[in-house]
Amino acid sequence: MPLLQPDIEEEYFRLAESEIFARIFKRKRDLAGRLLILCHHYQQDGLFQFADLVGDSLKLAREAASMHGPEFIVFCGVHFMAESADILAQKHQKVLLPHLYAGCPMADMATAGAVAMAYKDLVQAGIVIDEVTLVPVTYVNSSAAVKAFVGERGGSVCTSSNAQRVLAWALEKGEKVFFFPDEHLGRNSAIALGIPPEQICVWHRGELLGGNSVDQLRKARVLLWDGYCEVHMRFLPEHVRQFRLRAPEVQIMVHPECSADVVGIADRYGSTEAIITAVKESAAGSQWAIGTEINLVTRLQKQFPDKDIQLLAPIPCQCTTMDRNQPVNLLWLLDNLAAGKVVNQIRVPSEVAIKALKALEQMLSI
Ligand code: 13P
Ligand code: SF4
Repeated sequence: MPLLQPDIEEEYFRLAESEIFARIFKRKRDLAGRLLILCHHYQQDGLFQFADLVGDSLKLAREAASMHGPEFIVFCGVHFMAESADILAQKHQKVLLPHLYAGCPMADMATAGAVAMAYKDLVQAGIVIDEVTLVPVTYVNSSAAVKAFVGERGGSVCTSSNAQRVLAWALEKGEKVFFFPDEHLGRNSAIALGIPPEQICVWHRGELLGGNSVDQLRKARVLLWDGYCEVHMRFLPEHVRQFRLRAPEVQIMVHPECSADVVGIADRYGSTEAIITAVKESAAGSQWAIGTEINLVTRLQKQFPDKDIQLLAPIPCQCTTMDRNQPVNLLWLLDNLAAGKVVNQIRVPSEVAIKALKALEQMLSI
């Protein structure tokens, strides 16, 4: 059953922003000791100011799990992040999402059913002898059900900071790796490991054998699901070239969800945490063009006014689904908690959580 976002009473939308902020601060004080607010780097400043912890998706889920005190963990991020937090959380903790439609379209591009079908097709076509020889790796940007599918088959989760390491581990373990849902993170990691292009195949959803010939699939070592992040697809190689023409000293750093054409000509690439660290550690006066979500880039501009930091693309690149979480949603959620009513809880069924946890723990052990 898809989750339905409850309607918020109309009077909330008549409140001035300053009033909403003041009421959230008050609710935080009312719920002190019972509440932990987590914020992903891509979340707007209107919510970021209330965060007890900020970070990338995995760091936040792990830090939340290490804090046994708070009963309510409000995750200002997207659905899969809240699911990971719920899987890693203690039994008494409840994970809540301010807006239930704050999802990740890329994660939605690989459903557990579609992935299972692709596996079946590969076995039936005789491309893999059995499922053991095809090791699944899923990016953390995936549903708990997909993580469970991976955990059940001895595969692993990965993040944007360890994808290369996890892929190397999977290639040692099996004959071939099936990587989902992000084609680009998968390709960038495979290229970094020196896998030749003829050994990388894209599995196109809805096409017979993913649009590949049996021969192509036999030769392939890495199969990539054709998912993508529409935010990171906006960064193009011409943006990199134009920036270099305008500012020859600029350092260009992009997220590995960008295409290999962009990553290949950027100076550096890395996860959201890696981008923040690189900018933080750079000298005063240094120039940066950053290829990732705009809220993170504008926050870096404010935090480091002594550096020239620009968004790599001349168009806004915003994670609009994460932006469905607005301060008014947080206030509504906290008002309900203060009144003893739990709303917008993200609960992964225990049979799914056990298997998904295996895939998460596999990653942590690599
Ligand atoms: P991180 O987990 O690296 O912060 O990224 C999550 C994400 O959705 C990137 O688009
Ligand atoms: Fe998903 Fe892209 Fe948003 Fe990250 S930026 S949460 S990958 S849609």
